[in-house]
Amino acid sequence: MSRPENATALVTGASKGIGAAIARALAADGWAVAVNYRSDEDGAKKVVADIEEAGGRAAAVHGDVTNGEPKDLFKACEDELGPVLALVNNAGVRADGLTIQLEDEQWQSVIDTNLTAAFRMTRTAIRPMIRARYGRVVNVASVVGPRANAGQPNYAAAKAGLIGFTKTVAHEVARRGVTINAVAPGFIETDMTADLPEGVMQAVPARRAGTPDEVAAAVRFLASDDASYVTGTTLYVDGGMSA
Ligand code: NAI
Repeated sequence: MSRPENATALVTGASKGIGAAIARALAADGWAVAVNYRSDEDGAKKVVADIEEAGGRAAAVHGDVTNGEPKDLFKACEDELGPVLALVNNAGVRADGLTIQLEDEQWQSVIDTNLTAAFRMTRTAIRPMIRARYGRVVNVASVVGPRANAGQPNYAAAKAGLIGFTKTVAHEVARRGVTINAVAPGFIETDMTADLPEGVMQAVPARRAGTPDEVAAAVRFLASDDASYVTGTTLYVDGGMSA
């Protein structure tokens, strides 16, 4: 089945960085795009303006994915744009520290945003997708999780958990025309990686950081009709780090 008319993609944490690039890429591919933001309203409005200028449809939708009812967020997207038939769980945070020093709050905040919120958003998203016999969920994971990274035990647990979650949901909904996949970026140039130590690129076979657009291209593919038989997989966008 091909994408229904008016289909809307909700991208969480899309006011900047990888999420903003994903929003632009999905809009260029014909999705109406709900640009979710928590506090950066100006950033979200700028992404919406860029999309509209390029001839696409978009709306900025406020909401903290760790707080409140996901169904309220989905309702806002539907009222503004149309039925949400793609969800990109992109919102993420870091709170680094070696395990021996990590505080409960650092553990919990990263699990809440990077894993539990993705579960709650996906649970809400897939019911109407199953009804429509069409849906795409893409979870933004990381090479960290499948691969160790000292100083990020919370982040690694959340992102590895997200990949496991993705596989199991894929089995649950595959018969219904709904796919769910993950992308696993390596080092990507965004605010999140602005403070990385010198020399970290030595671990990257490509010897450079990736761009948000390079991650967005992978998400765009997984959300497209071309990827209708791709589900439960993780697409690494990491310059070879995981190879
Ligand atoms: P970023 O810090 O530029 O963007 C993260 C976005 O998530 C921000 O807009 C932030 O406001 C939003 N966000 C955080 N908590 C939220 C909440 N509770 N509700 C709504 N929005 C919330 O970082 P970046 O790099 O663009 O990260 C995007 C995703 O990519 C994250 O899931 C991150 O873990 C993942 N990632 C990033 C990598 C990198 O090298 N930059 C590598 C691997 C994964």
